[in-house]
Amino acid sequence: MWRELLPVGRHAGTGGYRRYAWTAADAECRDWFRDQARARGLGYEVDRNGNQWAWLGDPAAGDAVVTGSHLDSVPDGGAFDGPLGVVSSFAALDELRARGARPARPLAVVNFGDEEGARFGLACVGSRLAAGQLTPEAAHRLKDADGVTLPQAMERAGYDPGAIGPDPERLARIGAFVELHVEQGRALDLSGHRVGIASAIWPHGRWRFDFRGEANHAGTTRLEDRRDPMLTYAETVLAARKKARLAGALATFGKVAVEPNGVNAIPSLVRGWLDSRAADQETLDAVVAEIERSARRRGERDGVAVDVVRESFTPVVEFGHALRDRLAALLGDAPVLPTGAGHDAGILSGSVPTAMLFVRNPTGVSHSPAETAAEDDCLAGVTALADVLEGLACS
Ligand code: GLV
Ligand code: MN
Ligand code: MN
Ligand code: MN
Repeated sequence: MWRELLPVGRHAGTGGYRRYAWTAADAECRDWFRDQARARGLGYEVDRNGNQWAWLGDPAAGDAVVTGSHLDSVPDGGAFDGPLGVVSSFAALDELRARGARPARPLAVVNFGDEEGARFGLACVGSRLAAGQLTPEAAHRLKDADGVTLPQAMERAGYDPGAIGPDPERLARIGAFVELHVEQGRALDLSGHRVGIASAIWPHGRWRFDFRGEANHAGTTRLEDRRDPMLTYAETVLAARKKARLAGALATFGKVAVEPNGVNAIPSLVRGWLDSRAADQETLDAVVAEIERSARRRGERDGVAVDVVRESFTPVVEFGHALRDRLAALLGDAPVLPTGAGHDAGILSGSVPTAMLFVRNPTGVSHSPAETAAEDDCLAGVTALADVLEGLACS
């Protein structure tokens, strides 16, 4: 089943994945999910927010044990971030059947829509909507780079956006959610473990920085006469790096848009998106405030106006100790580690008991075509997930 998914949305030039929400590549992934559910005789449904579910047992019975992740990707993402969790979930159900396990609680696999936020700028849209952490009104306002709104995109993909919103009844049926994910760092590689358990997710957010100057001729405008927003932007990138390093935080400008974007024109606008994360909220707030202050100071010198808008924010997540300890007991010597990456599990943890498993990533590289995981480690992840599901659902 892993191999069937590999060509979907893969860019021939870069080898990276471009599986953005509600596009043709996303539709292929979603068809794959539906087919996996049907091939196993699982009950298949799509919820009001477009998340896909595959049920073993009766969802109405409640106290379900749910596992899964996402199938969309960042621009030129790797093969594992998201899909490893979904594929491992189906494989773990297969393993339970092979063991002859008799679940006393319903089990489900879920594919949450638009986890990466690559198209509409907000991560975890499917799980946020379900958990009531994103209002339908705010979701209706989300637009992609071509001005297509989220409801329009859903409609074009054949989904009804009319009912998007909180889904408390569905979440109330879930007794435990466990998301398996490729590790996006090297902690497991360094500690020599194949599988780990998440303790916490760092608080993180996205800020849009607009630098507005004056477009002018690159060949005739004296340097002293320029109001060049690219300079202010460049200084801000350097400042972000320095402030983050001093605070032990992370700050990344990974996306930038330039207007008019001509080789021989000084830009009128540079728009850069800051992704920043830290172990605690206080540190994160301080780092972002310092980056913003430094951008404004530099803007004044350059004659460039600076505007900063926070586009999204996810507070720190501490996974509940009861479920985490249960996993630790079921898995023996799996280490417990925090992560700086966001996940649907982080969103769900506000509504249902939630835990995460990480599978070793030998290079730590993620959000890149070079992301990788060894086959043996992925199989160990499936076994660990099956042990967890069996422990939770069969006793
Ligand atoms: C999602 O993968 C994120 O942490 O940005
Ligand atoms: Mn990701
Ligand atoms: Mn992911
Ligand atoms: Mn993610």
